[in-house]
Amino acid sequence: MIEEIGFPGRVGVIGGGRMGGGIAHAFLLAGSEVAVIERDEAAAAAARDRIAGSVRRSVERGAEGVDEAEALGRLETAAGYEALASAQLVVEAVFEDFRVKADALRRAEASTAAGTVLASNTSSISLGELSAALSRPADFLGLHFFNPVPVSALVEVVIAPGTSRALAESAPEWVRRLGKTPVVVRDAPGFASSRLGVALALEAMRMVEEGVASPEDIDAAMELGYRHPSGPLRTTDIVGLDVRLGIAEYLAAQLGDRFEPPRILREKVARGELGKKSGRGFYDWA
Ligand SMILES: NC(=O)c1ccc[n+]([C@@H]2O[C@H](COP(=O)([O-])OP(=O)(O)OC[C@H]3O[C@@H](n4cnc5c(N)ncnc54)[C@H](O)[C@@H]3O)[C@@H](O)[C@H]2O)c1
Repeated sequence: MIEEIGFPGRVGVIGGGRMGGGIAHAFLLAGSEVAVIERDEAAAAAARDRIAGSVRRSVERGAEGVDEAEALGRLETAAGYEALASAQLVVEAVFEDFRVKADALRRAEASTAAGTVLASNTSSISLGELSAALSRPADFLGLHFFNPVPVSALVEVVIAPGTSRALAESAPEWVRRLGKTPVVVRDAPGFASSRLGVALALEAMRMVEEGVASPEDIDAAMELGYRHPSGPLRTTDIVGLDVRLGIAEYLAAQLGDRFEPPRILREKVARGELGKKSGRGFYDWA
């Protein structure tokens, strides 16, 4: 029989940015102690302010059974990895760069005891390659949270080549304890979400290129016909055309020509039409 690994009572988060702050928020609301590690004291203080703000907003919106002061009393922010020492789970959410991530994970491994679970929130880096940098690959997996974490309902649980069965079977239950729904995916480029989301968006772009329909009508077809909350081109504008181009190039290199970025995407990015953040993408956001 496989022994289940209990929900972590103390969690470390490396990188308290957009995603790490959201991950800390989720574990604080679920009752865990959380230690957030940042690059320096100033970044640690900024992370603390961001997380305190998002816990306050959750309480104002009526999060049940959460006492703001009590929850923030369980939050520690620091610039040193010593704060991770007694964590049962450490989630890495630093920049999307292999070397930065591998270094953060190795330092976390050196700062914690055997049996401490290490997770990466990477959206695209191979977990197999990250786990090769570690000496305890059985304790490692991917926990791919979605942005913005406090209101997103999904976490992809990504099983790395060395992940132990006990961990693979326990992690989905942790995600449920956070009030989110887990989907379990084998370590493969783009996991489930990015691969399918980008596949749909690239085909929608090719349809615009071929004059099949306007962006508005293509999005309406998916929103009204398939109940997608936001069509593939509007979603691309919100995510950023440059971000999607990067993912498409990575998936094309890993999975083949079917992810080759369409000409219209490359041209828009070259013109600086990056979507909502630049004021124009497939839509005019000005
Ligand atoms: N933003 C998204 O929509 C999204 C969604 C899913 C996954 N992700 C992934 O989450 C990760 C973080 O993304 P983000 O959007 O939160 O980025 P971000 O830039 O907002 O945050 C990264 C944080 O990590 C800190 N950091 C960097 N190196 C560090 C180190 N060595 N030690 C401690 N802290 C360090 C930075 O100071 C920064 O605060 C990336 O891997 C990204 O691909 C992002």
